[in-house]
Amino acid sequence: MAKPKSIHVILSLLIIFTSALTSNASERSNLPSSSKWAPRFLGKYSHLTKPNFRQPQIRYETRYYDQSLDHFSFSELPRFRQRYLISTEYWVGPQRMGPIFLYCGNEGDIAWFAENTGFVWEIAPRFGAMVLFPEHRYYGESMPFGSRDEAYRNATTLSFLTAEQALADYAVLITELKRNLSAEGCPVVLFGGSYGGMLAAWMRLKYPHIAIGALASSAPILQFEDIVPPETFYDLVSNGFKRESTSCFNTIKDSWDALASQGQDNDGLLQLTKIFRLCRPLKRVVDLRDWLESAYSYLAMVNYPYPSDFLMPLPGHPIREVCRMIDGGPVGTSILERIFEGVSVYYNYTGQTECFELDDDPHGMSGWNWQACTEMVMPMSSSQDGSMFPAYDYNYTSFQEQCWNDFKVKPRPTWITTEFGGHDIKATLKEFGSNIIFSNGLLDPWSGGSVLQNISESIVALVTEEGAHHIDLRASTKEDPKWLEEQRATEIKLIESWIKNYHREKRGSFVM
Ligand SMILES: *[C@@H]1O[C@H](CO)[C@@H](O)[C@H](O)[C@H]1NC(C)=O
Ligand SMILES: *[C@@H]1O[C@H](CO)[C@@H](O)[C@H](O)[C@H]1NC(C)=O
Ligand SMILES: *[C@@H]1O[C@H](CO)[C@@H](O)[C@H](O)[C@H]1NC(C)=O
Ligand SMILES: *[C@@H]1O[C@H](CO)[C@@H](O)[C@H](O)[C@H]1NC(C)=O
Ligand SMILES: *[C@@H]1O[C@H](CO)[C@@H](O)[C@H](O)[C@H]1NC(C)=O
Ligand SMILES: *[C@@H]1O[C@H](CO)[C@@H](O)[C@H](O)[C@H]1NC(C)=O
Repeated sequence: MAKPKSIHVILSLLIIFTSALTSNASERSNLPSSSKWAPRFLGKYSHLTKPNFRQPQIRYETRYYDQSLDHFSFSELPRFRQRYLISTEYWVGPQRMGPIFLYCGNEGDIAWFAENTGFVWEIAPRFGAMVLFPEHRYYGESMPFGSRDEAYRNATTLSFLTAEQALADYAVLITELKRNLSAEGCPVVLFGGSYGGMLAAWMRLKYPHIAIGALASSAPILQFEDIVPPETFYDLVSNGFKRESTSCFNTIKDSWDALASQGQDNDGLLQLTKIFRLCRPLKRVVDLRDWLESAYSYLAMVNYPYPSDFLMPLPGHPIREVCRMIDGGPVGTSILERIFEGVSVYYNYTGQTECFELDDDPHGMSGWNWQACTEMVMPMSSSQDGSMFPAYDYNYTSFQEQCWNDFKVKPRPTWITTEFGGHDIKATLKEFGSNIIFSNGLLDPWSGGSVLQNISESIVALVTEEGAHHIDLRASTKEDPKWLEEQRATEIKLIESWIKNYHREKRGSFVM
C-alpha cells in the first residue's frame, strides 16, 4: 500500500512533529505514533517495487481516456488523462455478449495492481472475457492538472480526489468504451482488493445498471465510525504474532519501553542507530518505532503461506520466521537485539541491504493521506491487553488537527456511511443488494472491518482461516494450499452463475 519503509506511516511524520509538538514531547510514550492515524493498505508500494518475480502471462495495451475532472458539477474544468490497461485477447466479443472484467484501480500505479492480480488474468480465457484495469485518479500516471506536483499542490487541487469521483470515472469510461465497441449488451463484472475491493462493492451498489456483480477481496467497508471497535486492526496484527509464539508477542510488547529507555540514555540515540544499523543517525526514537510498527502491520497483511514478493521478498509464513528470529537468540540476547533480528526478516530477507533508511517518504503527502483526512476516516486504537503495540486511544480531535496542519482540510468522518452505508449492513443489503462476494482471510488485519457473514443468497462472505490480504486475487502457484484453491473455485462458480443469469434474462427479454 515501497521499499522497506513505513508505508504505513500514515499522516506523515512531518505533520505531527513539525507543528505544535516539540521533538522531545513526541517521545512521551502516550503520544500516538504516526502509524496509528490510519494504517495504510499496500498501494504505496506500487511505485517502488519492480516486479522481479514469476508473472502469469499478462499482455495488455495501455490507453488513455480524456476524463472529466468533476463529475458532480458543471464547471468548466480542465480534463485529465486517465490511464487504463485493456486486453481483448480472450474476449469473445459483443455478439456472444462476452463479459468484461473490470478491476477497480486503487491507490497506486495500475500496472502494479495488474501484475499482482493474476487471478483475473487467469480466469479471463475460460470466460471469454475482456480485461480492463482503469487507474484511480491522482495515482500512477492519471494526474489531473498535468503533473503530480500540480495535482497535489493544495486542498483545492486535491478536492477531486474522492472515491465517488473515481467510481464515476470507471462508470463513464466503461459506458463509453462499450458504446464504441457496440458492446452495450456485455455484462461487466467488478474486481478489487483492499481499497479497490471497497470500490468494487460500492460500485456494484451505486451502479447496478453498469455492473452485474463484484468480487470484493479484503475490503474493509465497515472500518468506519463505530461499526467495528477501533482496536480491531492492531489486535488482529498482534494475534498474528501471538498465534505463532507468546514469547514473541511479549518480546515485542516489552520492546517499546526498552526502546524508550535506551533512547533516554546519554548516547542512547547513537546506540539505537548502531543496534538497528541505520544509515543515518537516529534523531527521534519515535521514527524507529514507526518503522518497527510498519513492519509488523505489513507482515500481518502479507502473511502468505508461500514465499512472496508482493511488498518485498519474504519467506512463506513470514511472521513465523520473524518470531523464530526473535525467540531464537541465545540466552543473554537483549530485547532490542532480538527485535533487530526479527525485523531483518522483513527489511533484509534478501541480505542485500547495507543499512536501513527509516524515512523514505519525507513529504508524506501521499494520496492516501489526503483520502484518510477527508472521507476515509478509519478510527484506530491500540488496546492495553490485546495489542502488542504501545497503548493508544483514538483521538479524533488530534487527528483533525493533524489533517488541518497537513492539508488545510477538515475530515468528514460520517460521509462514507452516509454515501455508501455500513451501519446495519446486513439488513440493508439483504433486501436491496445482490451479487457481491466479500472474500477475506482472517490473518489479514483488515478482515476485522470487512463483511464476514453471508448476507443473502447472492451476497456471500468467503472466509478462510489462513488467508491474508487479498491472497485470492493473486496468481495461482504450485504451493497454493487446498483452502485457497477451493476459495477461488467457489468464486469462479459464483461469477459464472451471475453471468449465466444475466444471459438468461437477456435472452428472455429478446423473446418478448
Ligand atoms: C524538552 O521538553 C522540556 C519541557 O517541555 C523543555 O524544557 C526542554 O527544553 C525540551 N528539551 C529539548 C531537547 O527539546
Ligand atoms: C491552490 O493552488 C491553485 C493553483 O496554484 C491556486 O489557484 C489556488 O488559489 C490555491 N488554493 C489555495 C486554497 O491555496
Ligand atoms: C470512443 O470513440 C471516440 C471516437 O472515436 C474516441 O474519441 C474515444 O476516445 C473512444 N472512447 C473510448 C473509451 O475508447
Ligand atoms: C542484511 O543481511 C546480510 C546477510 O545476512 C548482512 O550481511 C547485512 O549486514 C544485513 N544488513 C543489515 C543492515 O543488517
Ligand atoms: C486529544 O487531542 C487533543 C488535541 O491534541 C488534546 O487536547 C486532548 O487532550 C486529547 N484527548 C485525550 C483524551 O487525550
Ligand atoms: C456463505 O455461503 C457460501 C455458499 O454460497 C459458502 O460457501 C460460505 O462458506 C458461506 N460463508 C459463511 C461465512 O458462512
